[in-house]
Amino acid sequence: MSAPGHVGTRRPGDKAHRLFFALWPGGPLRQALAERLAALVPPGTGRVQRPDQLHLTLEFMGSVPAARLPEVVEAATAVRAEPFELVLDGLEYWRRPQVLCLVAREIPPALADLVQALRAALAARGFETERRPFRAHLTLARKVARPPDPAPAGAFRWPAADFVLVESITERSGSVYRPLAAWPLQA
Ligand code: 2AM
Repeated sequence: MSAPGHVGTRRPGDKAHRLFFALWPGGPLRQALAERLAALVPPGTGRVQRPDQLHLTLEFMGSVPAARLPEVVEAATAVRAEPFELVLDGLEYWRRPQVLCLVAREIPPALADLVQALRAALAARGFETERRPFRAHLTLARKVARPPDPAPAGAFRWPAADFVLVESITERSGSVYRPLAAWPLQA
């Protein structure tokens, strides 16, 4: 990742990018999640998310023409939101998307404000935004056909100091998420 809000030079011939905004765990949190991953996701429970790919989606944009990338950056740069601490303290199985995820029992108002501000900044620039209410979750495993036995999630403290723009690249082995740029959260 480069300087705040700076998106590196694109490859020539790029036409569109699958994009989303997310919270991207820092080193210590990612390490803690990686260490607990095997205990939270029992063997045979779908496809476990690679530890280096764990993230919490704030706003999924889908395919965005490369020419509109500057507007996405402009929208993110316009967002003002305060830093916050999120506590991931619940483990949930979501039947329809077939995912096992960590959730937060309490959503800090600053997180709700951040998502709202992002949606507003994107909508103001003519982007379609998610209409469904925001549900903070960090996916641990996909293609989970059946709910696993209930397990205590523990509590993962997440001091969020920035948010990132991520590109989802479809590879034969599945999606690979690559953070493109980060913006600080500040009062
Ligand atoms: P998920 O973890 O619940 O699958 C990249 O695909 C990220 O964007 C994933 O974290 C995914 O959430 C999220 N996302 C939200 N809406 C999506 C959509 N309509 N299609 C694909 N991914 C979506």
